[in-house]
Amino acid sequence: MRAYSSYKDIVKLVKKVDSIGLVPTMGSLHDGHLSIIKKALIKNDIVIVSIYVNPKQFNDSKDLKKYPRNLEDDLEKIKIFNNIIVYAPNDRDVYNEREEVKKYNFGEITEIMEGKLRPGHFNGVATVVEKLLVMFKPNNAYFGEKDFQQLILIKELVKKIKLDVNIIGCETIRESDGLAMSSRNKFLNKSERKCAGRIIELLGKAKKMYKTSSLKAIKSDILKQA
Ligand code: PAF
Repeated sequence: MRAYSSYKDIVKLVKKVDSIGLVPTMGSLHDGHLSIIKKALIKNDIVIVSIYVNPKQFNDSKDLKKYPRNLEDDLEKIKIFNNIIVYAPNDRDVYNEREEVKKYNFGEITEIMEGKLRPGHFNGVATVVEKLLVMFKPNNAYFGEKDFQQLILIKELVKKIKLDVNIIGCETIRESDGLAMSSRNKFLNKSERKCAGRIIELLGKAKKMYKTSSLKAIKSDILKQA
């Protein structure tokens, strides 16, 4: 399966297509991504899958360096699909030399949780997603609900920049113990992986208690079991 590094080649190919779907990814594809692609294929004539580890959304150079990259494997996994086009650019295809991230103002949503822990991350995500949306002008663009904060931010982004595209959230696909599938799960050693499964189990318990117990009681009960 071929991967294009020039978006202009793809734009030429999809010129006469009625409905274009876009599935932005950073590669290292797993069943979560495949389920998003399947969903996108139901509604669109052509689905563009972008595979690009966007350096601008990493605030830690070590994290960027070790982020898994395996384009050959990714192409192998998605060659089963018809009607998809893969965009796998290099940094120079996406950014000009010394190009800075755009500074958006999304307010509180980017200042809490992951936004607080990874300063600049969401500006980096929005910068690349805006570029992809402007390049391909898809009718529909698909993002996992796993990264819920990112999904909300992208919905805000398209309102802000007034792009005519539907942003569609896709359900989280999980491992058998409930942990959300993620390209980063392979970084976990055995004991961290076990802990991750336990966290999701306890979150499930907390969710069940939510209707009948106070937050204080839930917190104390769950922490006792952790
Ligand atoms: O969710 C991701 O994989 C990335 O943040 C995205 C949306 C592809 C932008 O680089």
